[in-house]
Amino acid sequence: MQKLFVQGGTPLNGKVRVSGAKNSAVALLPATILADSKVIIEGLPDISDVETLEALLEEIGGTVEKNGQTVHIDPSRMTAMPLPNGKVKKLRASYYFMGAMLGRFKKAVIGLPGGCHLGPRPIDQHIKGFEALGAKVTNEQGAIYLRADELKGARIYLDVVSVGATINIMLAAVKATGKTVIENAAREPEIIDVATLLTSMGAKIKGAGTDVIRIEGVDQLTGCMHTIIPDRIEAGTYTIMAAAQGEKVLIDNVIPQHLESLLAKLREMGVNIEEGEEQLLITPSKKLTSVDIKTLVYPGFPTDLQQPLTSLLTKAEGTAVVTDTIYSARFKHIDELRRMNAQIKVEGSSAIISGPVKLQGAKVNASDLRAGAALIVAGLIADGVTEITGLEHIDRGYEQLTEKLTNLGAVIWREEMTEQEIEQFQNS
Ligand code: EPU
Repeated sequence: MQKLFVQGGTPLNGKVRVSGAKNSAVALLPATILADSKVIIEGLPDISDVETLEALLEEIGGTVEKNGQTVHIDPSRMTAMPLPNGKVKKLRASYYFMGAMLGRFKKAVIGLPGGCHLGPRPIDQHIKGFEALGAKVTNEQGAIYLRADELKGARIYLDVVSVGATINIMLAAVKATGKTVIENAAREPEIIDVATLLTSMGAKIKGAGTDVIRIEGVDQLTGCMHTIIPDRIEAGTYTIMAAAQGEKVLIDNVIPQHLESLLAKLREMGVNIEEGEEQLLITPSKKLTSVDIKTLVYPGFPTDLQQPLTSLLTKAEGTAVVTDTIYSARFKHIDELRRMNAQIKVEGSSAIISGPVKLQGAKVNASDLRAGAALIVAGLIADGVTEITGLEHIDRGYEQLTEKLTNLGAVIWREEMTEQEIEQFQNS
């Protein structure tokens, strides 16, 4: 087990290349279950969530061969092996095995998923979709059992706009008989990416990226090749880091349109941003001004960037109100930022940040993935050294974070924790 050290105050300069999108990768890998022959995916990020899903694909009989960032998955020998425990508990996205296995085998047993603790994260809309397609769904001792004699296309209105439910229903519906319409669907770029893979396999999907998705079921899906989209949340995290501590930082391999809400807010704060086709150039601003943020479904401001942005707002002049309408309890990073001298109050689903303050390095813990990103942003701007535990969360979603930041000139390093520190950490 390791901890991370950040020596604050060093300016960031140079170029950072964004990896493939985590939240696409975690759906693309289970989607390969639906094909009858080899699927090749290019540009997968080297993160622990991807490793876990690849291991799960092997557990159900798939062959996974990696060649750098390209992975070859042969799903032809996969079976409907129950996955009630073990690795499925490690991450939330294991719920995509439900839709994909139901689509291919008409049955699945999947343990209730784990993932970041951001308050309640129900999957009722996923289940509503599977049931509408004709599946019988039961929860037995912490595992979801899904069975269907036949899956039949249906009209499904989502009561809550959900990324996971939209993708999961798409996975189950592509091989159902007849037509499925998902109404009030989520519109995130990752949904388009999954639809693109499924279409290359032979699925008939229209409207991905809008709030009505129409799917015409097909009998067979075949192998294909797919290149993943860049990670907009990783790109946004480095953009925030550059705004916080950059001199001149070029973010490469980014689709600027995916980050419009963040870029608009950063410009309001006074950050200079030049947009290229696949690049963003961030240059310093003498003074940052506070802005209010409300997280919303795409294309609104992403909840996943709320936490890193909170750290940047401690540097801005004025009072900022950050409201999370997606996960009202996604504020575990705030206590840690307070340890670093931040002036922040939490009221209901809002954090109220007063700035500017000079953050001070401290010992802090990353309680979830984006809380980890927030603490690194804080560490980069703080006086002194910040020591961060909970790296297993950060490693789930950021590829080579220490190396990428070192290349930009940050003073950041990892150290093994002593046995005594590990014991203290586990008991805390
Ligand atoms: N919701 C329901 N019922 C459902 C599903 C969702 O009430 O059946 C609610 C959730 O509780 C939440 C809202 O709907 O309040 C949106 O949840 P959504 O289903 O869209 O979230 P998710 O699919 O579980 C994905 C990302 C999250 C990201 C959210 C929101 C993956 C694997 N995860 O989660 O990413 O925060 O969408 O954009 O794609 C992260 O990367 O750090 C992360 C947590």
